[in-house]
Amino acid sequence: MATSPARIMSEFSNPNLEPLITGEAIQARIRELGAEISRDYAGRNPLLIGVLKGAFIFLSDLMRAIEIPLGIEFIAISSYGAEMRTSGEVRILKDLDVAIEGRHILVVEDIVDTGLTLSYLLANLKSRGAESVKLAALLDKHDRREKDVPIDYLGFQIPDKFVVGYGLDFAERYRNLPYIGVLKNQEEAQMGLPMNAPVA
Ligand code: IMP
Ligand code: MG
Repeated sequence: MATSPARIMSEFSNPNLEPLITGEAIQARIRELGAEISRDYAGRNPLLIGVLKGAFIFLSDLMRAIEIPLGIEFIAISSYGAEMRTSGEVRILKDLDVAIEGRHILVVEDIVDTGLTLSYLLANLKSRGAESVKLAALLDKHDRREKDVPIDYLGFQIPDKFVVGYGLDFAERYRNLPYIGVLKNQEEAQMGLPMNAPVA
């Protein structure tokens, strides 16, 4: 069945989004990070651990900018309810499929916000006997930090605004944007769409 182009409401040019970081700028920064990681981890066969779901696009581009042998794994985590968040306790929804004892781990995350999720995850991975645990994050909302999390490889510092795209979502929407944008109106963002049960 033919679909008239006029009926396609492009998410990429959605007026409820204000572009913050272009796809080109993201790719250029990733090439720099990839070169840095290739040098730092030469001869160490690092295991990149992507934090689902948000980091999957960043991981897929970053790994192709790293030219040394490496492995990848995924982990899915979710914060507990409001009162648990202050303790920084998180639930592992999907754990790693392999043991990481003696491995050089590079956690790949989309964004560090309060830092509560990451500080739990980094400690958890260290406790499994990894040789080293470092962090690569595409975005850093430093103004919101509650727990100090050292970011070894950072894409961009961003202001305290809710961003979507390039893997990051609002209620599971906008992950497919090839750039990072600021969501202007959160109510409008959900209009006319089926609701998702909140997970990660
Ligand atoms: P925190 O650092 O423990 O507060 O949690 C970071 C997680 O919250 C990220 O992995 C994202 O899933 C989510 N998050 C924080 N800020 C944003 C945002 O601006 N847009 C989309 N997701 C966000
Ligand atoms: Mg995340």
